[in-house]
Amino acid sequence: MVPDTLKWNEGELSLLDQTKLPWEVSFVRCKTCEEVASAIKSMVVRGAPAIGVAAAYGMALARLAGEDMLEARFLLMSTRPTAVNLRWALERMDRVVGASPVAVVDEAVAIHREDLNINKAIGENGANLIPDGANVVTHCNAGAIATAGWGTALGVLRSCVRSGKRIRVYADETRPRLQGGRLTAWELREDGIDVTVMTDGMAAWLMKREKIGAVLVGADRIAMNGDTANKIGTYGLSIVAKAHGVPFYVAAPMSTFDEGLSDGDGIPIEERDGSEIRSPYSSKLIPDDVPVWNPGFDVTPCENVTAIVTEMGVLRPPYIESIAEAIDRRPKD
Ligand code: MRU
Repeated sequence: MVPDTLKWNEGELSLLDQTKLPWEVSFVRCKTCEEVASAIKSMVVRGAPAIGVAAAYGMALARLAGEDMLEARFLLMSTRPTAVNLRWALERMDRVVGASPVAVVDEAVAIHREDLNINKAIGENGANLIPDGANVVTHCNAGAIATAGWGTALGVLRSCVRSGKRIRVYADETRPRLQGGRLTAWELREDGIDVTVMTDGMAAWLMKREKIGAVLVGADRIAMNGDTANKIGTYGLSIVAKAHGVPFYVAAPMSTFDEGLSDGDGIPIEERDGSEIRSPYSSKLIPDDVPVWNPGFDVTPCENVTAIVTEMGVLRPPYIESIAEAIDRRPKD
């Protein structure tokens, strides 16, 4: 069984420590906004929706402690730049920060609960896209532990399995933080879903040799034309999928759309420390005097995306129309 990503208990946020998985299932307890910010930055909690929920609780902790709410917001906002769900959650908290501490906590709890329901809806909506018996390639971890539960891309697969479909998952290892090799493999195995790990460069050869029904990934920010930022390596995977005629699906909540961006050119891409590549998990791999480059995300152009699965339904090209229409239909928070 996959434990809860986040748990709120009487003024304390407990986070599943994703830096320790799969070797150890342990939790980091946060009693201050600063501790939440540091947990987001160090990737104890990660995945766009989970980062948003954690940030909302960070604001709640700041309010309970009587801290300066603008400073708290700034601190949380500066943790990770690419996942727009962080900004979305903080904007939602902005509406209540002046209210009582109880009201602020209630809003964070509401964001948390809603995310679980949203993921279940994404799962239901996306399951029809995946045929029974399909081999599915995924990248990074867009699973239960990247959200309040169930997951986006992996939520779709959970919904498939729940409805009786037989699914085989090929999980990209996802260099350099190994979210696929460590987290997706662990999470799917915990739920008894068939998963095989491969390194990031193997997808083309896999698609040449085996019938692959779909590539299914999550997203950190989607521009209004459908350009999609996700974990580094996703763009390459989309090109490989297109070359082999494999449908490429993105699964994400509506909070991942950035209404301020007409295309992906303006998406901020997190640059992470080179040590993640040079000496991952304490194994020294690359000579000290050779520079390394470590962008955390890339942007897949909308023309490579077959469909975007949201809680509002499956969006198809032209995304300029389908995304705007879904945003219009969306019930206001
Ligand atoms: O750097 P991470 O592990 O936070 O990156 C996570 C991803 O890229 C996920 O695919 C994305 O946030 C969607 S999670 C439902």
